Amino acid sequence: MTDLTAFIAGLPKAELHMHIEGSLEPELMFALAQRNNVAIPFASVEEVRAAYSFSNLQDFLDIYYQGANVLLKEEDFRDLAIAYFDRVAADGVVHAEIFFDPQTHTDRGIHFDVVMRGLLAGMADAEARHGITSKLILCFLRHLDEDAAFATLEQAKPWLDRIEAVGLDSSELGHPPSKFERVFAAAAALGLKRVAHAGEEGPAEYVHEALDLLHIDRLDHGNRSLDDSALVRRLAEERMTLTVCPLSNLKLCVVGDMKEHPVDRMLAEGLRVTLNSDDPAYFGGYINDNFRAAAEGRGLTREQIVELAENSFKGSFLSDAEIDAHLTKVREYAAN
Ligand code: HPA
Ligand code: ZN
Repeated sequence: MTDLTAFIAGLPKAELHMHIEGSLEPELMFALAQRNNVAIPFASVEEVRAAYSFSNLQDFLDIYYQGANVLLKEEDFRDLAIAYFDRVAADGVVHAEIFFDPQTHTDRGIHFDVVMRGLLAGMADAEARHGITSKLILCFLRHLDEDAAFATLEQAKPWLDRIEAVGLDSSELGHPPSKFERVFAAAAALGLKRVAHAGEEGPAEYVHEALDLLHIDRLDHGNRSLDDSALVRRLAEERMTLTVCPLSNLKLCVVGDMKEHPVDRMLAEGLRVTLNSDDPAYFGGYINDNFRAAAEGRGLTREQIVELAENSFKGSFLSDAEIDAHLTKVREYAAN
């Protein structure tokens, strides 16, 4: 282990951009396919991994939704969450705010409550065994229509005390934030926070819409904001947190090479950047792999790496007292 790798490994951090369906490793996919008697179009784990070569977001989404077909029962969602938390406990993750895509499951006839109960069981297990705290972010699939998003929000109503925020994911191009202005307003009225994927493949204009129409509390990806200098200034002034995902950006060809990743340019512009894994089972790494890849690709300093970890708590939906307690631990770690 290099010094920097060891430093990253022990650094306390939060993960703020991780789709739980995207943490389904091929081994668990096979195990669940067998347990549930679901056919999958792959003969081996190696064949699954070989299929994970993407030239854009849609390429990935097609295979990601197919993978989710093995998730049927409460215990499947529980086991999926447990596998993620067990894995990131070793990465120094002490808090995670995880996305889930209920429509991917309800559209297959699985009840919303089954998904919730399973994920909550996994989250309780993580807190009991690893001391990792977590929150849930319900994502609307933006390729589906507004009515479907409203129906999903309705299903979430009995669970509002266990859902922190709503988010927006799936195919970005052609599905601007404006399509979901009313459903985000309804979510806000229910007391939910708001986040949205914007500026991953879509233009800076979609980031403006996410800010002005969806009134987001956090911006997921946001890479294309860099095309618009006034927008960058606004994001910096508003202390907006960006959940950036380096290995995802590489695998989905948002950047051509990790040496060209804009993470340090974003930091230099005063943006509150965090690093995250997005869909770790599909993009070749968990959160520390993302820290390492960005650190190596861009020659990040220890100070920059510490800033990224601090930002992960500052940008979280924890209370101010909880954030302060985590920041103290990050600073103590960095000082030793
Ligand atoms: N972008 C949009 N939708 C997604 C992603 C992503 O990176 N991962 C899972 N769903
Ligand atoms: Zn994402």
